[in-house]
Amino acid sequence: MGVYQIIEEPDEVLRATALPVKNINAGVLRVLDNMRDTLYAFDGVGLAAPQIGVSKRIIVVDSGDQLIELINPEIVLAEGEQVGKEGCLSIPNVVGTVKRANRVVVRGLNRDGQPVEYDATELLARAFQHEIDHLNGILFIDKATELRRVKP
Ligand code: NI
Repeated sequence: MGVYQIIEEPDEVLRATALPVKNINAGVLRVLDNMRDTLYAFDGVGLAAPQIGVSKRIIVVDSGDQLIELINPEIVLAEGEQVGKEGCLSIPNVVGTVKRANRVVVRGLNRDGQPVEYDATELLARAFQHEIDHLNGILFIDKATELRRVKP
């Protein structure tokens, strides 16, 4: 069990391009475990490794029905459009409206190093796009319209 402190904007690790994971070693598995614990501790939908200060291509997502752990995730198909509200644990108390693809197909590796693929729509598709943006140093505030502060 481990809950990380979440890195908040502005911090250069959030703007870096995260490096691919070459070996799924004990360190990577520990990062995954602690990212899961952190995601649930903060009641998030997704978390990317740079948000806990690890500049590696690792994300965890749970849009309500299952935890998805992905190493080196890539979007291989994006189609349609959805416009909706978004926030980020690294940018507390701010929400904005972001246009995203409504469907994405994402490929990556699971914790066992097996290739996995997810075909996602709506909230899960939004979460994948948001978290994969983090791996490329992109934050939702870069894409949002109608950014506004909300009460903590
Ligand atoms: Ni975020």
